[in-house]
Amino acid sequence: MPASSETILIASDHAGFELKETLEAELKSLGYAVQDLGPSTDASIDYADFAHPLAKRVSDGENRRGVLLCGTGLGMSYTANRYPHVRAAVAWAPEIAALAREHNDANVLVLPARFVGAEEGRAILKAWLDTPFAGGRHARRVAKIEREDDAEDVGGG
Ligand code: RB5
Repeated sequence: MPASSETILIASDHAGFELKETLEAELKSLGYAVQDLGPSTDASIDYADFAHPLAKRVSDGENRRGVLLCGTGLGMSYTANRYPHVRAAVAWAPEIAALAREHNDANVLVLPARFVGAEEGRAILKAWLDTPFAGGRHARRVAKIEREDDAEDVGGG
């Protein structure tokens, strides 16, 4: 069940526009509040223009979770992962989305819209929404993503 106070952000580029509309409707039908950060048409635009505002809000703690879509998922994930505390996971199957939550505490889901249909997209979204972070050894690993000083010297040169 969604937390009543949570608003999930969503944004895409032109390649992800159609699936964005589908997933926005799915989020609403699941009971989530959604804020669509655009675009509002499928006209060609630059993915980073839409990834930055969403990632900044997750990074600042203004919103807990967000969904980004572009053709491959790559441009959106590169941009979003530049922000502290953002863990943006590209998922092209529900199993990857679930592991991205369980092991990596992914707070941004990125979908490769040119490679995922509507039904698969909805299943990926649901897996990401419903899977809790496992914590434990995974919490130690996630913490090391942002704290280079905590990384152990394994003789990598
Ligand atoms: C747009 O053609 C495409 O480059 C974009 O959607 C995305 O795949 C970039 O990473």
